[in-house]
Amino acid sequence: MKILVVGTGAREHAICKVIEGDAELYSIMSNKNPGIARISRYQISSENDIDNVKKFAQENKIDIAVIGPEAPLEKGIVNALEEIGVGCVGPTMEAAKIETDKVFMRTMFENYKIDGSLVYKVFDNHEDISVFIDDFGNDVVIKPVGLTGGKGVKIMGEQLKDADEAKKYAKEVVDTKMGGHARVVIEERAIGEEFTVQAFVDGKNIAPMPAVQDHPYAFEGDEGPITGGMGSYSDKNGLLPFLDKKGYKCSVSIMEDTVKAINKEVGPYRGFLYGQFMLGADGPKLIEYNARFGDPEAMNVLELLQSNFVDICERIVNGNLRGAKFADKATVCKYIVPKGYPGSAVPDQVIDVDENKINETGSQVYYAAVNEKDGKVYSSSSRALGIVSVGETISEAEKICENATKYVKGDIYHRRDVGTADLIQKRVNHMKELKK
Ligand code: GLY
Repeated sequence: MKILVVGTGAREHAICKVIEGDAELYSIMSNKNPGIARISRYQISSENDIDNVKKFAQENKIDIAVIGPEAPLEKGIVNALEEIGVGCVGPTMEAAKIETDKVFMRTMFENYKIDGSLVYKVFDNHEDISVFIDDFGNDVVIKPVGLTGGKGVKIMGEQLKDADEAKKYAKEVVDTKMGGHARVVIEERAIGEEFTVQAFVDGKNIAPMPAVQDHPYAFEGDEGPITGGMGSYSDKNGLLPFLDKKGYKCSVSIMEDTVKAINKEVGPYRGFLYGQFMLGADGPKLIEYNARFGDPEAMNVLELLQSNFVDICERIVNGNLRGAKFADKATVCKYIVPKGYPGSAVPDQVIDVDENKINETGSQVYYAAVNEKDGKVYSSSSRALGIVSVGETISEAEKICENATKYVKGDIYHRRDVGTADLIQKRVNHMKELKK
């Protein structure tokens, strides 16, 4: 079996690690990720150059391609690879619209009466935007319709100070066709605790994974700008300290209904489905879907996966997925990022990673946006590497992980509070307050 992994980051490194030894591993990445390079036959080229990926797959007689990021999915990488008989773990461009077209997603929730949606409206002109925001009266979230690399969504009360700033930004989204459309989605702002549920999907069956909580803010105490995610944790029982079985099952049921609806609308969804939920007083609300694994969330769950990943990939392609087993342990992932991230990190700085020492702590390293040159690891302006540790409790995993971070040196920082008892208690208290 020959498997091609498309993508360059820590998520793809984690995917490659669970394939290693069970299949011949090939990869296409945009720069030399040392972790992926070490275990695969790789080509350094853009994962968005679909013709080239197709040629590489054909030349190497690839059986299955696993697609990491969303951008090539939007460009139709799966449609192109399926044309030449390569089985794909990733949705077609039509099914990927669950992430790449927010109007498609919200309309489907409405038409198929799927639970957990939010009040929303779609606009293409200034006047209607102003009237809606004035009449709505509560905080809103402004979302470009298409992909913006995680930079387009802005929340009133956070990045947007008030209704005037929300209106101005919504109009800018329309005028500049941000995300590729001269339209904007305006949603109610959901209040609660965010969490992620990911699932393997074979077109009709879904195999859900343990819930995870990511930390999007750059600095400790949830301060600073939004990032791609500074770290994440999962709990021993697959739930989270603030998320009970009922809330988790409700989220999985929303994802099941979504998969059925996609099937009816545009055909089968195959691959990984990432549901980002907000748990409030009246249950989970769907904030958005990603048509891929989460980053860092993939690292938490793949570290626990006991089922054979290659077997799961084959089952996704063949439509006979049966479920997936995960170790009953807690995980903590901390992202090490260059100083100045996000926005003003100076790239091309050497980062010294003592992998042996990190492994001795029982932790794993997953390289992200770094480049290996002459045996040295160089930073970019984005996240550098994730360290993942497993424990009987979140607290145990956190201590192991924090200890491991001292073996990475350079002009870097990380959030020491990810997975700590204090921060988790804050989440639990917040949930209790909301339920009062
Ligand atoms: N953790 C955020 C994402 O994967 O998009």
